[in-house]
Amino acid sequence: MSHSSRHQTPLVVATGNPGKLKEMQHYLGDLDWALELKPKELDVEETGTTFIANARLKATQVAIATGKWAIADDSGLAVDALDGAPGLYSARYGQDDAARIDRVLRELGPHPDRSAQFICAVVLARPDGSVALEEEGICPGEILPSPRGAGGFGYDPIFFVPEANRTYAEMTSEQKHELSHRGRAFALILPQLKRLSV
Ligand code: IMP
Repeated sequence: MSHSSRHQTPLVVATGNPGKLKEMQHYLGDLDWALELKPKELDVEETGTTFIANARLKATQVAIATGKWAIADDSGLAVDALDGAPGLYSARYGQDDAARIDRVLRELGPHPDRSAQFICAVVLARPDGSVALEEEGICPGEILPSPRGAGGFGYDPIFFVPEANRTYAEMTSEQKHELSHRGRAFALILPQLKRLSV
């Protein structure tokens, strides 16, 4: 998965979500790490009460189980008028993306306050499970009354970013990488990751 032939320490990307994996590979692809997928059977229960806590759990447990460096993210959508829901339950808010979007739109109804934010915590753990780096990225936006755009994954079609005047699902992948919660978290992590001596 890595293009570099220099220093190649294995780094396990601790996610089973193909949409997130694709984005994480983009951020990490040019580094001097040999990216590896998390073993399929290795599932970490997300029992934390914050995004950072869950990202720590995933990174730490995958690192210990594989004996390798591991990087994990935990992310979700927090809608102000829904007291931060779906929040930590973003991935479990319905059976599939369409059901999850429908539920958020139904619960929000015609509420005039559409403000929301996407949050992403990223944690890098050492092979012994200790935390080496952690950062959080936030992207503010608004929930549209109905979906718009065909790209991306998850809640992308209902998340409108005023700064870009379009939804996540209407962005090119380059634009989403630049503006998104995950992009911002990785922008904070990457310079530190490059300075790490392993
Ligand atoms: P987890 O981080 O794997 O616990 O799941 C986060 C959930 O939040 C995903 O399954 C999506 O439903 C949602 N989510 C996280 N990031 C994004 C994004 O960039 N676009 C749309 N939905 C997202």
